[in-house]
Amino acid sequence: MSTSNRVLIFDTTMRDGEQSPGASMNRDEKIRIAKALEEMRVDVIEAGFPIASQGDFEAVQAVAKEITESIVCGLARAGRADIDRAGEALKPAKRKRIHTFIATSPLHMRVKLQMKPEAVYQAVIDSVTRARNHTDDVEWSGEDATRSDHDFLCRCVEAAIAAGAGTINIPDTVGYTVPDEYHALITMLFNRVPNIDKAVVSVHCHNDLGLAVANSLAAVKAGARQVECTINGLGERAGNAAMEEIVMALRTRKDHMPYSTNIRAELITRTSHLVSTITGFAVQPNKAIVGANAFAHEAGIHQDGMLKDANTYEIMTPESVGLRKSNLVMGKHSGRHAFRQKLEDLGYTLGDNAVNDAFKRFKDLADKKKEIFDEDLVALVDDTVNRENDRIKLVSLEVVCGTKVAQQTAELELEVDGAVKYAKALGDGPVDAIFNAIKQLTSSTQHLQIYQVNGVTGGTDAQAEVTVRLEENGKTVMGQGADADTLVASARAYINALNKLLVKREKTAPAALSA
Ligand code: KIV
Ligand code: ZN
Repeated sequence: MSTSNRVLIFDTTMRDGEQSPGASMNRDEKIRIAKALEEMRVDVIEAGFPIASQGDFEAVQAVAKEITESIVCGLARAGRADIDRAGEALKPAKRKRIHTFIATSPLHMRVKLQMKPEAVYQAVIDSVTRARNHTDDVEWSGEDATRSDHDFLCRCVEAAIAAGAGTINIPDTVGYTVPDEYHALITMLFNRVPNIDKAVVSVHCHNDLGLAVANSLAAVKAGARQVECTINGLGERAGNAAMEEIVMALRTRKDHMPYSTNIRAELITRTSHLVSTITGFAVQPNKAIVGANAFAHEAGIHQDGMLKDANTYEIMTPESVGLRKSNLVMGKHSGRHAFRQKLEDLGYTLGDNAVNDAFKRFKDLADKKKEIFDEDLVALVDDTVNRENDRIKLVSLEVVCGTKVAQQTAELELEVDGAVKYAKALGDGPVDAIFNAIKQLTSSTQHLQIYQVNGVTGGTDAQAEVTVRLEENGKTVMGQGADADTLVASARAYINALNKLLVKREKTAPAALSA
């Protein structure tokens, strides 16, 4: 059992998180997320799965070039091609890790891999040995470990460590385990694997039963010293353990769990928002730590208690996770210098072009909306930065709608790969007309699955933040758009999703990855 009480945080938002249907991220988006994670002092950043596509390879490589403090990690199945591809992508990294995995449960070995246990055992040794040719920092995972035979799992763990893996990950791939069972599994490994003290034991929990965080914490109590998690709990199916919940549970209940992480919790809210904007995955309002209602007090009796002493109903302060009071920030007379300064206060360091674009949109917004809050600026800037490399851009939009028109009409201009195109379309409602016009110009075959509107702040003049989900040939993408005009925000969201679809078309899903 580990004696150090420091728990390493391994973030897999850009790998397992990206496996959430629709949550694709391009290279520049991954760089932005990686920088935010590094600023939070995440120990290991899993940047992607380099063999999955050229885009993934380039994204991992780009993150490897940018990040200097955190360890940058790439995922690889147990084959040589995967491992060498990960090694290649990680070459520029100052600190790099290859994470190689193979399934160890009877079901996965028989049905998915169609390999005998002895062949899997040999693959464990070969894959770790191969990865060690690229870096000294190798992590090995036994996929579906929680449904694996204990004797076999112990043999594989021992072999992986003997071959040079410094981190051993025990994933609950299908979110099946429960806290005391997982605690017992980790304890069993500490008791039975003779060389276990040569490795850090890591845990990786999925949330199918809503137990990912509880299971991870139970494993830490049993001696695990790395937790794999994602921002906002993003991840395959029901997601992974949410980083913000792990970090704040350890902080808030230190009396019960005397472990610490290196994470700067005050950057949680900002990073959560960044990930949500980039992926298009809105955070549910009642989500622990980062949901819009996580620190809101509605009931009169609660409000009364809060006024007397915040400890009555708050077990942690909003400030401790970087949530600030809604600040009335700027008006239409604010200048560019103050604007740039405000962005820096909010954690944005933008290049001149991005500042200019955002400033122009801020001025337009200030003409329409009397009071501009921090949240407005965050929505506006994220929306602007998100679009920098888009191949399809909105140039103009005009919509005719209301009770007096027989059918709603949208006229719009889009810039598609540098050329401006015009379309006019009818629809059953203004949003339908806009989406029809966009489809005309992009000749795309996708289906709209979700259309959702939220107000960025309160009030009827609030900016609208629109989320759409599109599906094309089984691939889904999310898009977001913000604007004071809900119809413009809708067009932006649809176009944002289309741009992501263009990226997604390049990607192919690698076989035998159920991770
Ligand atoms: O869930 C899982 O088993 C994984 C592995 C690749 C670690 O994501
Ligand atoms: Zn996983």
